Amino acid sequence: MISVSVQSPAVEALSRKLGTLDPVAYGPDECRRYAAQIAEIARLKRERKAIVLAHNYQRPEIFEVADFIGDSLELARAARDADADLIVFCGVHFMAETAKILNPERMVLLPDLKAGCSLAESVTADALAERKAELARAYPDLKVVSYVNCTADVKAISDACCTSANAVKVVEAIDSEHILFVPDRNLADYVQSQTRKTIIAWDGNCYVHHQITPDQVDRSRRSIPGIRVLAHPECRRDVLALADAVLSTSAMMRYARDSDADKFLVVTECGLSDRLLMEVPGKRFFKACKLCHYMKMITLEGTLDSLRHLRYEIALPDAVIRDARRALERMLELGG
Ligand code: 13P
Ligand code: SF4
Repeated sequence: MISVSVQSPAVEALSRKLGTLDPVAYGPDECRRYAAQIAEIARLKRERKAIVLAHNYQRPEIFEVADFIGDSLELARAARDADADLIVFCGVHFMAETAKILNPERMVLLPDLKAGCSLAESVTADALAERKAELARAYPDLKVVSYVNCTADVKAISDACCTSANAVKVVEAIDSEHILFVPDRNLADYVQSQTRKTIIAWDGNCYVHHQITPDQVDRSRRSIPGIRVLAHPECRRDVLALADAVLSTSAMMRYARDSDADKFLVVTECGLSDRLLMEVPGKRFFKACKLCHYMKMITLEGTLDSLRHLRYEIALPDAVIRDARRALERMLELGG
């Protein structure tokens, strides 16, 4: 392991950057440890010709080793275009699977296989196939659009995938008036509010966003005049009704950067607020957020071990890769 001395400029820079987010979590000892891990990860990335892709909800110290940080759509594109021997995916399991499906020749590693997703767990391929067959009798033109927060098996029997950034666009573009939308009921509701097509929703939810209540948003609105409310479409309908903008995580970054407003309530997982605080200076970000314990299973130490021991590799049957890729490519074609 590369050692980093107490006074090293790397440690000081890290302390200045991360200490503003949380001076206790990023005290001198932690920053010294993180700086050493960051240096070792950089060395291993060069040695293994590896890149690190990180979702916007990851821990701030993970952002320090990421070659690309983004929302699910941006990460899918980055994985497809990755020119590296190895992709270490700092995010959750379905995202790492997506990276593997779009770039099957590359080795894709997820630092912790327990990093799942409550939404992805709410639909199985068998249950979806059964529901699809039942609905197809009433709606012969039925198409299945699956939010990328689902397993590769579910993607493989979908007509197209979508993310929070392009769900409305994909639904509008697909050649059917009747869409079985899986697995997020809240996102399905939001899409229904933006289209004249008929959306039949699956009954899943993200446990993180679903627990955010209108009361929490209302209290901040009342106590902070002029605050702009940015909400993720996985939130409940009554929460979205209070938002100034309903956006994917990266669209929130762009909105906050470009907006003339200087105070924002960020209604999504808390990791995004950290990224906003680090990257959008001169503006204030208030949190109406919850932590995703799956996203937080990925640590800097786990990422280092992943690169060091080449673990844990994402492996999928060829037929699943082939069929799921068709649905993901359809998404990229219809939804950008
Ligand atoms: P984004 O695609 O907006 O980043 O959302 C991913 C996710 O898991 C939200 O909970
Ligand atoms: Fe899944 Fe919700 Fe966590 Fe996103 S925030 S990974 S949807 S549980």
